[in-house]
Amino acid sequence: MNNTRAEEQQMLEISAPNNTILRQQSAGQHPGRWEPDESFVRDNRLELDLTYIVNESGHGVFISRAELEALAPQVIEHHRQLKRGEGDCRDGKVPMLGWQSLPDEITPEHLDDVRAAADRLADKIDAFVSLGIGGSYLGLAATVKALTHTYYNQLSRTQRGDRPEIYFLGQNTDPDYFRDTLDMLQGKRIGINVISKSGTTTETAIAFRILRRLLEEYEGERAGEFIVATTDKARGALRTLAGQKGYRSFVVPDDIGGRFSVLTDVGLFGLAMAGINIHEFVAGFRQMKQRTDGDTFWSNPAMVHAAVRYLAHQKGKKVEVVATNSLAVYEITRWMEQLFPESEGHHGYGMWVSPSMYSEKLHANGQMVQDGERNILETFLRLVESDNTVAIPGDPDDLDGLNYLTDAGRDMNFVNRLVIDGPAYAHFNGGTPNMTINLPRRNAFAVGQLYYLMERSVALSGYLAGHNPFIQPGVEAYKKAMFALAGKPGREQDGRAIAESIDALERTII
Ligand code: PA5
Repeated sequence: MNNTRAEEQQMLEISAPNNTILRQQSAGQHPGRWEPDESFVRDNRLELDLTYIVNESGHGVFISRAELEALAPQVIEHHRQLKRGEGDCRDGKVPMLGWQSLPDEITPEHLDDVRAAADRLADKIDAFVSLGIGGSYLGLAATVKALTHTYYNQLSRTQRGDRPEIYFLGQNTDPDYFRDTLDMLQGKRIGINVISKSGTTTETAIAFRILRRLLEEYEGERAGEFIVATTDKARGALRTLAGQKGYRSFVVPDDIGGRFSVLTDVGLFGLAMAGINIHEFVAGFRQMKQRTDGDTFWSNPAMVHAAVRYLAHQKGKKVEVVATNSLAVYEITRWMEQLFPESEGHHGYGMWVSPSMYSEKLHANGQMVQDGERNILETFLRLVESDNTVAIPGDPDDLDGLNYLTDAGRDMNFVNRLVIDGPAYAHFNGGTPNMTINLPRRNAFAVGQLYYLMERSVALSGYLAGHNPFIQPGVEAYKKAMFALAGKPGREQDGRAIAESIDALERTII
């Protein structure tokens, strides 16, 4: 059979190398120092598009420029306070603002050390298991997923850029998930990084106990060589254990809370383990720091982003659907699901963040976004350029009527842009204002910019709402109840009181 030129082209695309794998391989081989040049910065600039939310024409004003400008002085004042270390930013006595200046403070030497430590462990193991929950898990896991192949662990080691398989445990207590993961580790040489700032988080501690036992069975007295602990520099059970057993350890800085810690060693060691260029990641943070340091409202995307969300909340938007067109980037929307609610959900205030993968969710809660209760703000996290192209083949019969796409030279990437453009327009017209964050590519520089922008925005958001965004007493409340119910020594009395108050409840079970 004779193939048309277009068909030949399509076949070539399918057999072409996967660019995600090429990136992994090259990052694995060239882990070193990296500074972006001007054209790279220009091509990989994160953008905030507010067309469908700050709009005074067409379908009615949702947020006007005048409203934003009226709020701007307050936002600028909070921005200055944060930079000066003032305002409600303390956890105990410590101002939790170390993340603000961190991008400029991390030295290339430190990054080289982290990478070298990761390389030494990577060379000895088949599988790396990162243990942690919340801020000690989500940023790292999201970045690994965003920048690596969907089926990373199933690729060959060469395809992974000579890096080990990567697993995450401790982020839940589901025994089946745990057991299934242990099955995957059978017969493999494993390395662990146990990450817990407090060193007392139950989920992480249980996971660590089990993995440590496994390692001791496999490696005997050498088990400690395969364990890294990332925790407080002086306090906590994990620090004590690391000291006693001589584990290689990293420090979670005092003045940086979990959800702001992805640029500390909490994130960096695991990223280096996955072969991700951490110099490039830091450069992305640094770039966004420069863009958001100034106090001219319209030139500072963090101030504008925070002000838009604040006004949307004032106008009744209580749910933020954060939708993306990339499964890799979807994991970052889950990081945002932690960063915003954990920082904003205080004293009856806050917006519920709902991560969504489009198209999938357009065929589910998309109905609600278009036409349900008008309490939704939508934020698109659009991946502008996917790693790969996938052609849509022509068909002589054209029974599905798709040849118009093929004939116009359209590929799946074109359609994947429309799953943002279409809903953005339709939802705006249906009364759901939306904004788009354009993430140019799946690279560490772009992701770093996004993280820093979101961190600065949520800090401003807490200040605008009048509460401390750097603490999470609500999370501590569940931890206390769990300790008490588990019968933890010292908490027996609380446990009895909770059990009694549960017993006293009228039961409705049908
Ligand atoms: O953002 C936070 O501070 C939390 O989500 C913590 O990261 C999470 O509770 C895990 O705490 P730890 O690192 O102390 O185990």
